[in-house]
Amino acid sequence: MKAIALRCLIPFLARFGWLVLPALVALPVAGAADLNGTWRLDIVKPWGITLHHHIVLRQEGRKVDAMMIINGAADEPLREIKMEGDEIIGRIDWDWNFRLRPDGPNLRVLIVYGHDYRYRDAGVAYPVPAGSGKPPAVLPVPALRDLPDNGLARTPPMGWNSWNHFGELVDDALVRETADAMVSSGMAAAGYTFVNIDDCWEAGRDANGNIVANEKFPNMKALADYVHAKGLKLGIYSSPGFVTCGGYPGSYGHEEQDARTYAAWGIDYLKYDWCSAGRLYEHKDLRPVYQKMGDALQRCGRPIVFSLCEYGAGDVWTWGPLVGGNLWRTTGDIHDNWKEMSEIGFSQSRLAPYAGPGHWNDPDMLEVGNGGMTNTEYRTHFSLWCLLAAPLMAGNDLRTMLPETREILTNREVIAVDQDSLGRQGSRVLENGGLEVWTKPLSDHRLAVGVFNRNQTEGTASFTWAQVGLAARPAGMRDLWQHADLPVGETGWSGSVPEHGVVMLVLK
Ligand code: GLA
Repeated sequence: MKAIALRCLIPFLARFGWLVLPALVALPVAGAADLNGTWRLDIVKPWGITLHHHIVLRQEGRKVDAMMIINGAADEPLREIKMEGDEIIGRIDWDWNFRLRPDGPNLRVLIVYGHDYRYRDAGVAYPVPAGSGKPPAVLPVPALRDLPDNGLARTPPMGWNSWNHFGELVDDALVRETADAMVSSGMAAAGYTFVNIDDCWEAGRDANGNIVANEKFPNMKALADYVHAKGLKLGIYSSPGFVTCGGYPGSYGHEEQDARTYAAWGIDYLKYDWCSAGRLYEHKDLRPVYQKMGDALQRCGRPIVFSLCEYGAGDVWTWGPLVGGNLWRTTGDIHDNWKEMSEIGFSQSRLAPYAGPGHWNDPDMLEVGNGGMTNTEYRTHFSLWCLLAAPLMAGNDLRTMLPETREILTNREVIAVDQDSLGRQGSRVLENGGLEVWTKPLSDHRLAVGVFNRNQTEGTASFTWAQVGLAARPAGMRDLWQHADLPVGETGWSGSVPEHGVVMLVLK
């Protein structure tokens, strides 16, 4: 399920997906049946939910191409198609591998996906009329207007989110246990507040159109009460589309009603994920579509942090605050590896001017502690996010985290850089062969400096006081990972930085 996250770059391609079909590899279909048609695959989840994929095959002579409508949320062309016997093999850009085998009038389907391709869904897809799986009619969008600042998130929100580690396996017990662990581990004392349920909590709508949670969440209000009693806040997830990325019901056409439901349950934070809205709307509609929910939240009678998740489309940083947004994703989904984490983190410098109290750039949730990087790399990840004034949403299992992970996530000196009241995002000031120096202005005329080594060998880095923008030698220098004051050099700092590592300093 986790691999679903890769689809995030795609929704805008969804509308134009068919255009890429002619580019697909010509495929000989030796003696195969007529493969033209649409099939539907139903995936039944143990919590009483059935998800639907559609497979649209087109055959011309001995060539075939395929479009997969995944979860109803995105049209994904099947790529790198090849045949093995009568099997069609290909993959889509969510890192899902498909095998399709004609079986009478049906198609046998095997989908292998997820981290290390550890998950598989198998089933029989049956023929449905052409056009099945098409999105509903497009609803009108509101006229643009600037919404007021909702007064929330004066510093970047801190908390936990279920997606990176648990994917669809989020339930009431996990959320309660995570809230317990947030307190007992010292995370809450270090500033983490939100316990956020991501996708896959939804079931459908009742007779009155109210959104209903699935069997994994028997009583959302009681869950919110539990989390609140711990001094924490509860977050939830939805989509402006008719389904979420995972194929669960979205808020399409029910925005006001859903906002009221969230308020009645005691929800404090909404992550609103574009997903299937990409099959309905164009880039120009992003802003009014998000405004619709922003407006509904501002009128629902409860303060709810509004987190926009549309992967940085349409330069969201230029209008996010005007739709009531407190944070907005700037990129596609993060994954727990150095390459993707560092590509996301180190590409954020140009967005620094757009962050400030109440409205933050969000380079996605943390992977610290999920096991795909070294602790040195996780310190780099955490330091960089703090220099970026990024929301700090832990994405690991708080119940079982190792002491080293806890030490990174609760380093108060590094967190203080993120949470500084000035609310300025840091940016890169020097770059030299994989060594980078980033600065972030702090309150009381202090300056945070991160010295990063993106190379695979230890390196020696240096900067002068002038290069980090100081007119004079600072009075003091603190190393935030060593928790030690350092002697202040005459002209600047020089030192060694481990491979993929960081030295995190505050100058005052
Ligand atoms: C998208 C988002 C992820 C996560 C998943 C859930 O990929 O970008 O953060 O919310 O959807 O399906």
